[in-house]
Amino acid sequence: MKHFLSLKYLSKNEILEIISLSLEIKKNFKKNIPTKSFEGKTLGLIFNKPSTRTRVSFEVASFQLGGHSIFLSKDDLQLGRGESIEDTSRVLSTMIDAISIRTNSQEEIEDYAKYSDIPVINALSDKTHPTQMIADFMTIKEHNKENGKICFIGDGNNMMNSWLFLASILGLNLSVATPDKYKIDEEIIKEAKKLPLFDENKIKFFTNPRDAIKDASVVMTDTWVSMDQEKEKIKYFDGFCVDEDMMKLAKNDAIFMHCLPAYREYEVSADVIDGEQSVVFEQSENKLHANKAILSWLIDT
Ligand code: CP
Ligand code: NVA
Repeated sequence: MKHFLSLKYLSKNEILEIISLSLEIKKNFKKNIPTKSFEGKTLGLIFNKPSTRTRVSFEVASFQLGGHSIFLSKDDLQLGRGESIEDTSRVLSTMIDAISIRTNSQEEIEDYAKYSDIPVINALSDKTHPTQMIADFMTIKEHNKENGKICFIGDGNNMMNSWLFLASILGLNLSVATPDKYKIDEEIIKEAKKLPLFDENKIKFFTNPRDAIKDASVVMTDTWVSMDQEKEKIKYFDGFCVDEDMMKLAKNDAIFMHCLPAYREYEVSADVIDGEQSVVFEQSENKLHANKAILSWLIDT
């Protein structure tokens, strides 16, 4: 039984296999060649937090792969009235073929997987956002930037954590810059250090974004205030907006990425996110192809 809970549980080969599958599925889709790897199957989606891209891409992915999806919010399930994760997981295992869960607690998603006879996909937790990494790395590959320096400026949260894991598994050059108060959690860094290709010559931590971005081929950021966080934290991010001035320090042909939703003039200026270097809408489109690949990979193998 395979799950997709955090990148740290996957090998380099498995991740590269899913990325290749995403690119192949996208190429075929553009040529009107359908992939039907979820034929007659049902994907359940338990989302306890808002979502535009992840929810829609998973629902459309299951439909286009020949299957079907059921959206379940916590309030619609007996889970919201205290039914246990164990019972919910056991029951749904007998009715559907895969489940995608978005909730705050990573532990809750992993706990659900313990009792599940069907693949469980983490659709975002407060610690990680692994499905986004497949769409993002796929986008980076399409722009031939995978051997360049990747720079993430902003909050040491679920997105940055996931990049740290990806870089430590694939052996990427990654520089991250966070305010002192919002560094990546020490526990996450400890976990990353145990991954096969963590290399301190390639993975670097900064508190000055201008040092981190120098000569980067890929520049990315994320909201400073993630879902369920307090707006007051914004005051600690002075100097962290990725604007044109900051982008000048990266390579001339660097691409700008953001998982979205974005807050213009906070973590990124409008001229950067809406400018020529931005690939953010390719990234969001790729979530559809990436999620098809994740579903196919989980079901086929
Ligand atoms: N990038 C992303 O996960 O977006 P949603 O929150 O809209 O799903
Ligand atoms: N860090 C953001 C990502 C949204 C896709 C959040 O958790 O709200």
